[in-house]
Amino acid sequence: MSEVKLYSGVKLPLEMHKVRVVQKLNLLPVEERQKAMAAAGNNTFLLRNEDVYLDMLTDSGVNAMSDRQVAAMMVADDSYAGSATYYRLEQKVCELFGTSYFLPAHQGRACESILAEAFVKPGNVIPMNFHFTTSKAHITRVGGRVEELVIDEGLKPESDCLFKGNIDLDKLRECIARNGAANIPFIRLEAGTNLIGGQPFSLENMTATAKLAHEHGIPIVFDTSLLQDNLYFIKTREAACRDMSIREITRALCENADIIYFSARKLGFARGGGIAMNSKEYYERMKDFIPLFEGFLTYGGMSVREMEAMTVGLDETMDETVISQGPQFIEFMANELIKRGVPVVTPAGGLGCHVNARKFLSHIDDHAYPAAALATAVYIAGGVRGMERGTLSEQREPDGTEPIASMELLRLALPRRVFTMSQVLYAVDRISWLYENRKLVGGLNFVEEPATLRFFFGRLEPIGNWQEKLVAKFREDFGDSL
Ligand code: F0G
Repeated sequence: MSEVKLYSGVKLPLEMHKVRVVQKLNLLPVEERQKAMAAAGNNTFLLRNEDVYLDMLTDSGVNAMSDRQVAAMMVADDSYAGSATYYRLEQKVCELFGTSYFLPAHQGRACESILAEAFVKPGNVIPMNFHFTTSKAHITRVGGRVEELVIDEGLKPESDCLFKGNIDLDKLRECIARNGAANIPFIRLEAGTNLIGGQPFSLENMTATAKLAHEHGIPIVFDTSLLQDNLYFIKTREAACRDMSIREITRALCENADIIYFSARKLGFARGGGIAMNSKEYYERMKDFIPLFEGFLTYGGMSVREMEAMTVGLDETMDETVISQGPQFIEFMANELIKRGVPVVTPAGGLGCHVNARKFLSHIDDHAYPAAALATAVYIAGGVRGMERGTLSEQREPDGTEPIASMELLRLALPRRVFTMSQVLYAVDRISWLYENRKLVGGLNFVEEPATLRFFFGRLEPIGNWQEKLVAKFREDFGDSL
């Protein structure tokens, strides 16, 4: 196992890498942070990164590369068609996933767009364990509808269920019976279920889901963007897989899938994406979209340097020591917050530490966006940038009503190998200060609300002058500290 035990008994994750290239960071004074937040329309997506101390917005495209990845980038074969770099990537993807065909795309949502175009017709239903923002947006864009069938336990922020991303098989049976298999072009399974706190599903559950789907002739589409964390959780939590290697678990999962896609901004510690499959028919159905939307079939919109880095990164994902870093640091951060009373999603998942904003700010109505308000407060308190994952990230219904998200979370992503332990402890410190002062935090209102993916560009304002009061309390408690 990859955990190192300390003589003192303290449970401390240990970095299994050393830092050899660094980037200087800025930490603005609290007054400047409040101004920057206002200028960004109280939306952490609109902050400038130079105004951010710890960028915990996402782990997408911001993981630290290994020396081997950077070295591989130097030997990339730069050609529009038939690049040797492409063939190395294709070979690696097919080796790891056990597939015969690969289509390159510039990132995960490009794969989702192609899947939606190729498979989804108006009125179709796509069952899934849980939606991801871009996957849902592409399905609804072409007239389809999403049904979420995650087990009930998956939607409880605090739980001891080890596989909260599992599909509820009874719900799936009922969904197929109600909609009819002919109306279901595919079932989407998302590893490391993002929006419910980076929660994994088990190999056992995926196998049972695929069996049921295939009995009805429905293909399985497997979103492996967050596979690396899910692999670690299967290895450490699923008794039947304890003696399997990470490679064997990957193959066993993929054997259940008909189409596999990924964002290489997450899986493979690079930037890009792609779709892998064994069916020539599916390959042919999607192939023409690549030169139309992405780029020629041997680069799909990606730079050859990134493809080389990805090939090495995918291979390194099969190393348990490498993929244990994310979940172990996230669990440490979650446990430190729990010690200080801060409500977080449990068990700690992958991707990042997820704060339960609905409980943290229980005095704020869901329509005043507690998680988004908490994101602005955490930035003001510490220069730490997180991401709202709650009602603000939902789309309005066609009649204009605003669905309330089942989970109202502030996600503090831990890009892999990027932050040190003292930076994690600093974030914990500022968030616990905020928790002590949570009654000072108020809600937000939209000032500009885009119709699609409103969380990206929407601009909001605080309800009342609570941010000024928060800054004043910060000065009172921290004196002249940044
Ligand atoms: N699927 C999952 C599970 C994801 O988490 C993401 C991206 C995508 C698909 C889309 O991939 O960004 O390469 O187009 N998640 C990022 C995040 C954006 O911050 O969680 P992409």
